[in-house]
Amino acid sequence: MHSARPAATGPTALARSLLAPEGEAEVDGFVDRLDRWLPDLVQALGQVYQDPQLLPRLVGLMASARRQRPTRLRELDRTRLLRPDWLQLPGVIGYAAYADRFADDLQGVRARVPYLRELGVTYLHLMPLLKPRPGPNDGGYAVMDYNAVRDDLGTMADLVDLADTLHEQGMSLTLDLVLNHVAREHQWAERARAGEERYREYFHVFADRTGPDAYERSLPEVFPAFAPGNFTWDDALQGWVWTTFNAWQWDLNWSNPDVFAEFAEIILSLANHGIDCLRLDAIAFLWKREGTDSQNQPEVHAITQALRAIARIVAPAMAFKAEAIVGPQQVVAYLGTGAHAGKVSDLAYHNSLMVQVWSALAARDVRMLVRALERFPAKPPTASWATYLRCHDDIGWAIDDEDAAAVGWDGGAHRSFLSDFYAGERPDSFARGEVFQANPATGDRRISGSAASLAGVEAALDADDQHALDLAIARLLCAHAIVFGFGGPPLLFMGDELALLNDRTYSEVPEHADDNRWLHRPRMPWDLAERRHDPATIEGRMFQGLVRLGRVRASLDSLHASGETAMVETSSPSVLLAVRRPAAGLMIQVYNVSETGQQIASAEITRHGLPALAWERLADRSVQLTEPTIDLPPYSAWWLTEPPVRVAT
Ligand code: GLC
Repeated sequence: MHSARPAATGPTALARSLLAPEGEAEVDGFVDRLDRWLPDLVQALGQVYQDPQLLPRLVGLMASARRQRPTRLRELDRTRLLRPDWLQLPGVIGYAAYADRFADDLQGVRARVPYLRELGVTYLHLMPLLKPRPGPNDGGYAVMDYNAVRDDLGTMADLVDLADTLHEQGMSLTLDLVLNHVAREHQWAERARAGEERYREYFHVFADRTGPDAYERSLPEVFPAFAPGNFTWDDALQGWVWTTFNAWQWDLNWSNPDVFAEFAEIILSLANHGIDCLRLDAIAFLWKREGTDSQNQPEVHAITQALRAIARIVAPAMAFKAEAIVGPQQVVAYLGTGAHAGKVSDLAYHNSLMVQVWSALAARDVRMLVRALERFPAKPPTASWATYLRCHDDIGWAIDDEDAAAVGWDGGAHRSFLSDFYAGERPDSFARGEVFQANPATGDRRISGSAASLAGVEAALDADDQHALDLAIARLLCAHAIVFGFGGPPLLFMGDELALLNDRTYSEVPEHADDNRWLHRPRMPWDLAERRHDPATIEGRMFQGLVRLGRVRASLDSLHASGETAMVETSSPSVLLAVRRPAAGLMIQVYNVSETGQQIASAEITRHGLPALAWERLADRSVQLTEPTIDLPPYSAWWLTEPPVRVAT
């Protein structure tokens, strides 16, 4: 029977006619989603663009992409519409890797899916793999063709096969969407350089220095050491082009509706190749405004909302993850605040948590972490933090002076302490890292290094010190427990599951030699991975420790990412409480971030409502909180709940 809907006009009528050959159920489904998310799209586009042709053009794009959407992905759309919190479930564990460094190519990655399963991974993020420019390409973040896979990694068909394999295993695939810039060799840039006006307008090009000089007054430098300044002269263009990152990464002009439409098409095409989630690279930089640092501008959120609505209408199985490495007060907007709440990205990296954990480990002091996270604005319950200890990038000491001051520290001095500490330049340091992009103008010294080398494994091995090694592994597991216990998908970075050390061979590769972020982007040593089952090895201790964390996490409804974690100070500066109070049940995590045993009063835990006979989930044992004080061994990590109800069998 024909549905009793009122005759539609405008976008709905257009969509109906374009989709008509698909059959009534499919058309109705699409129109239902259009009705649901069109207001988000229209409102967001209206905030940014004044082009009356844009909406009909997008409806055309959406209908055509939907018609190309494979049946199995339409099924996934239905499943995830019924399970919109699929990324919030405690069983979601992420893993980020370079396809070539992990397993040579996409087919190799496919062959290694069982390894990921063994580790408990359900969410795989493969680092940039769409065709980059030849030569230096910032680890793939300079894309020259969004419709092709990097030659040595395989083909688009291999990508589809990998996504299918992952889906069969209940896993998902995330790719980077590099949307702030393209490679100078991308055809849009080539055509601009060939003199095509239409494409010149895809970029920010200035005939002389007036514009660039005006902007530079308030712009920071991302890569001051190897790419100073934010503009690059191009002879063919006879102009200065905006290049926030490297000279060969050209920033796109997102105020041009054509750029928006191009990316809408790219997103839908990736969705139809089975990509489940897009990591919106460097999203904070999308919109430029003179007199500001040209980050976090309101238009960024409107653009994300519009792209998100388009993805939801065509491919509701797809999610977005924002990579915005910005301050605490700005980052929440990437999960949606105000009018954008719940309408932008589903995930956003929790950079502050990462930085604060490393700071706490170095200082053996959690007070600033508590302070910083306490001031964090709440996120929408439908969105989640992506938590991590390490990733492919450097660690920038994004610490608010105010948070430092609150615990009696000077922000600048503490940042400097952290750089010295993690570069291994202090006698009390356990770390072996390297300084990345020292900026004499700001005093900034970011840090590169693998989690294991930063946490003391390398130094302990060099010193042949078993006790220091035991402490380093305990330190790593404690830090991971904080990350896994926060709520939201924890993302492991390739190699951290085996405690891989810094890889200094990067300096022998000409394209990598000046970028020491390659220090912590090793190749997977599969021979070492064989030791993961042997509890007497470092690899075995790390791997099994993480497997355990993941399993326990998956079993705890209290860790559903809709809830919040409150960080609480204790009477010991080295002891952190993380308190979660979802309807699913109270959970109190206790961490000692130092190598010395600590003591706190039991009441500091029980006053949050936990019974005196609590259950520690990670070791699956009871904990008596009846004595006045409680002893916490070095780097202990406890996940306390009420005792589980065991069903008699
Ligand atoms: C992101 C990436 C980083 C890259 C930059 C430019 O921050 O994580 O590796 O250099 O964007 O694309």
